[in-house]
Amino acid sequence: MMLNVFDDHTDLSFQAARIICDQIKAKPDSVICFASGETPLSAYSLFTTLMMAEQIDYEHFTLIGLDEWVGVPPENHGSCAWFLRTNVINPLNLLPGQYRLFDGMTSDLPGECVAMDEFISERGGLDLIVVGIGMNGHIGFNEPGVSPDLYSHVIELDEITSTVGQKYFKEETRLTKGITLGISHLREAKTAMLLASGERKAPIMKATLEGEISMEVPATIMREHPNGLVLIDQKAASLLTARE
Ligand code: F6R
Repeated sequence: MMLNVFDDHTDLSFQAARIICDQIKAKPDSVICFASGETPLSAYSLFTTLMMAEQIDYEHFTLIGLDEWVGVPPENHGSCAWFLRTNVINPLNLLPGQYRLFDGMTSDLPGECVAMDEFISERGGLDLIVVGIGMNGHIGFNEPGVSPDLYSHVIELDEITSTVGQKYFKEETRLTKGITLGISHLREAKTAMLLASGERKAPIMKATLEGEISMEVPATIMREHPNGLVLIDQKAASLLTARE
C-alpha cells in the first residue's frame, strides 16, 4: 500500500482524477468501480473534464456503482445512482451497457447481488476500485464487523452510517439497509484507491493506517492490498504519527 498526503482536497482530487484517466488510457476496456459521496465529487468532475480535454477513448470502459441505499429510488437526489448519473455517467454520455448500478428498490435483493457479481466477473473483474471511508471505517457499505470474504451483499447499516448519511438527503430519510460490493471485490481489484479529506476523517484515518488490521475497521484491509493507494489531505493526516 502507498500513502500520499496532499496539501488539500483540490490537490488530492487532481491526483485521483489523473489516476482514473491514466487507467483508462492504459487499458481502454477497464472496469472501474466508483464510490459516491462528498470526497470524490471534485475528482469526478476533473476526471470527466480531463477525459474530454485529452480526448481519451472511453467507449469501452465500464463503470460499476459501489453501493446503494436499500429502499431509495434512483430519482432521489440522495441516492448513489443519482450521484453517479449526475457526476460521471451523464457528463460522459455513457451508454446503458457501459455501466451497472445497484437497484435499491428491487424486490429481489439477493438476485441483484448475483447479477452484479456476474456482471463484474464476466468483464474480467475490477481493474480499479475508488472508495471513500465512512466515519466508522466502512468501505462502501461494508460496515464494522463485516466478513472479508463477501462479494455483493445486503447489510444492516451501522447507526453512524444512517445518521451521517442524512447529509445526502433534502428530507430526513429512513436508512436501514445498504446493498454493496464486498471486501472480496476490493481485495481482488487490481488497484484499490481510497480517498479521505478533512479534519473529521483524521481519527478514522489514524485507526485505518496505524491501528490493528481488523474488520472492526474495514478500511484497514487497504494495508494488505498489494496495489493499494491511499490519497489523503493534510487535515485527514493530521493525527498520523508517521507521515510519508
Ligand atoms: C458511498 C460509499 C461510502 C462513502 C463514505 C464517505 O458510495 O460507499 O462508503 O464513501 O461514507 O462518504 P463521504 O465521501 O461523503 O465522506
